[in-house]
Amino acid sequence: MNEPNGAVNEARPVQVSEGRTARKEATTLRNALLEARGVTRSFGTVQALNGVDFAIHPGEVVGLVGDNGAGKSTLLKILCGALQPSSGQLLVEGSPVVFHSPRDSRERGIEVVYQDLALATELSVLENVFLGREQRRTGILGRFGILDRNAMARDARETLDSLGIEIHDVAARCGLLSGGQRQAVAVAKAIRWGSRVLLLDEPTAALAVMEAEKIGGLVREVVKGEVGVVLVSHNLPQVHELCDRIVVLLRGSIVANLHREDTTVEEIVMWITGAARSRGN
Ligand SMILES: Nc1ncnc2c1ncn2[C@@H]1O[C@H](COP(=O)(O)OP(=O)(O)OP(=O)(O)O)[C@@H](O)[C@H]1O
Ligand SMILES: [Mg+2]
Repeated sequence: MNEPNGAVNEARPVQVSEGRTARKEATTLRNALLEARGVTRSFGTVQALNGVDFAIHPGEVVGLVGDNGAGKSTLLKILCGALQPSSGQLLVEGSPVVFHSPRDSRERGIEVVYQDLALATELSVLENVFLGREQRRTGILGRFGILDRNAMARDARETLDSLGIEIHDVAARCGLLSGGQRQAVAVAKAIRWGSRVLLLDEPTAALAVMEAEKIGGLVREVVKGEVGVVLVSHNLPQVHELCDRIVVLLRGSIVANLHREDTTVEEIVMWITGAARSRGN
């Protein structure tokens, strides 16, 4: 079944479940916040993505799942401009765009948290939160490029506090934080700036149970507004709990687009492993 929000791939059989909430019906009538159409990407002889259609709507959390090497991170990197597709197209609210780098997608309110955590370890927490968006002092000092560190520190502190992320000192170098704390800062940064779409690649992999739940809560808060979230995770119970829609990648192709209320963790596993296809579903 083809639909405008469809993670639909012509090359393979795709399961699209029928159940909908009223809210989802409403969102599908509007342009997607961000959409990939027919996106293909190869690395040498490796075909990482093969004609992928993927869309994210306002107020929607989409889980992107698949085995190791299925193409999840490659798709996220293409959606934010960190990688270029070999062919295919990106659209923001229905208009074609070309992102030459994540700077271009950032300008459109799209923020990404990479699986391999791209925080600058030699910079402080607050410098990371404001990297590329440094606030200058007002007046003549600002015109000479003097930064307003106090304002940035206050803002970074408020951001972390509002998200319940416990970092003692926002002036501390990120390299001194634990892996989980760094992950939390990266997510906080994305939430602080991502006004349209958050692309989160394994945002809870390094987190303790409580912290992972906190991030889950944050994601649900964020999508109460107009933001859309793409969540890549191997934690399928968490994906099933958090996501409105679950898209399964198998060797670079989308094989299933499942609605949370119509599927189970067991069924998602079957799609990930390819067992669902081989059973003829
Ligand atoms: N920069 C690269 N150069 C060469 N091959 C790459 C590169 N990035 C990804 N690949 C290949 O593309 C395929 C998809 O990789 P990708 O990182 O997108 O998978 P993934 O679904 O994110 O996996 P994981 O769950 O392990 O993170 C893999 O075969 C991988 O080896
Ligand atoms: Mg990955």
